Amino acid sequence: MTAQKDSEPLKVALLGCGVVGTQVARILLEHRDELAARVGAPLELAGIAVRDVTVPRDAVIPTQLLTTDAESLVDDVDIVIEVMGGIEPARTLILRGIAAGASVITANKALLAQDGPAIFEAADAAGVDVAFEAAVAGAIPIIRPIRDSLAGDKINRVLGIVNGTTNYVLDQMTKHGLGFEQAVKDAQALGYAEADPTADVEGHDAAAKAAILASLAFHTRVSLDQVACEGITKVTADDVAWAKRSGHVIKLLAICEQNDEGVGVRVHPALVPDTHPLATVSDAFNAVFVEAANAGPLMFYGQGAGGAPTASAVMGDVVSSARNRVAGARGAGESNYANLPVVDFGTASTRYQVRLSVADKPGVLARIAEVFASNGVSIETVTQAPRDDRDGSAYLVIATHEGREAALAQTIETVAQLDVIEEVMSVLRVEGS
Ligand code: NDP
Ligand code: HSE
Repeated sequence: MTAQKDSEPLKVALLGCGVVGTQVARILLEHRDELAARVGAPLELAGIAVRDVTVPRDAVIPTQLLTTDAESLVDDVDIVIEVMGGIEPARTLILRGIAAGASVITANKALLAQDGPAIFEAADAAGVDVAFEAAVAGAIPIIRPIRDSLAGDKINRVLGIVNGTTNYVLDQMTKHGLGFEQAVKDAQALGYAEADPTADVEGHDAAAKAAILASLAFHTRVSLDQVACEGITKVTADDVAWAKRSGHVIKLLAICEQNDEGVGVRVHPALVPDTHPLATVSDAFNAVFVEAANAGPLMFYGQGAGGAPTASAVMGDVVSSARNRVAGARGAGESNYANLPVVDFGTASTRYQVRLSVADKPGVLARIAEVFASNGVSIETVTQAPRDDRDGSAYLVIATHEGREAALAQTIETVAQLDVIEEVMSVLRVEGS
């Protein structure tokens, strides 16, 4: 890549003019002079690729720049900004732009979690930047801190609330005692959740983000299909109320960690102590908690979605990549030198809180405790509460010490089959304590 002359404009292709793209275009156009001063060269918006040029657009969009010919657009620019989403044609257009020598900025977590390596290898071969700050946790700077600021440290664990929709739903259930269905309806009415909320509530969106975070944190390629994923659809108002009683809140967590066996990545609802910094993350906000060997705990907090917040992250990458081009340089490429094994969920170390409905008679507790002991799972506390709605029955809430996920899961499977167990009401992992 050769250095650009100071005043020579850098041509920018914008792929997509929806929620995020519209705001990216606005910032590019409204802050043209300041951006030029920061980069050392003007940024010229060369075109905006959309599906349908006749769709009414925000007044800030110059309609003469709209085109359905995304292929030609990416062939002749310095920077491609991909905010169209989905796998194709985003993937082909990104690779085409890279082959033509453009640096690429993308917010597309689904594509990166599936095909990141192919894109990074193409960028290495072409000597261009690929930047993706907006792909994880919207406006929150988290990619650059992990990739650059913490590059001299050792990250042990990343614990994140990286999906705003599910955080809003769980927060409403916590604050107002709503059921899951009602909370999702409210999130849809406010525009947080999509008409089809599956990708959010089933944890798929968070899993894609977890794969990206784990790859960066542990210098190891992690793909979406290696992330253990459980969403929030089974969380009930009852679970939330019981969580409160034990001093916890329920959060959908993305957990990336390294143990002796390799890298483990999982997404699931978890009980977080209400004293933990992640417990205070409310509404649709995101937060990522990083534990580094030397820096210690770090918390990154902010808006994880929305047009302007996400566009802010995109524009940070645009300026950074543009500066690199002006300097004839390139930012850090993919780092996967550690190449650690990605381990099965069963090897994860976690704690369970189990709520059971049991027959309230002598010997019941001993039989349950025997199953825990025979699986090598240590019980920390047992709390019994009467069942007001059923004579002769009681609730037992059992909290375990830390154990292997496989042993904990096997324990519950065996306990569920005991004739003294009326129902396994809930099984939740406890994290952050
Ligand atoms: P939108 O659905 O609002 O916008 C998508 C845009 O891409 C539209 O302008 C659409 O054109 C265009 N587009 C889609 N398919 C094609 C195609 N085949 N050819 C040409 N243009 C196409 O998406 P968002 O702005 O919400 O999201 C964009 C990306 O940003 C996604 O990867 C998303 O995951 C990511 N992201 C979004 C966040 C958010 O808060 N929305 C937060 C963080 C990341 P047309 O207008 O003609 O339909
Ligand atoms: N749907 C996502 C969320 C935003 O609710 O956080 C885009 O990643």
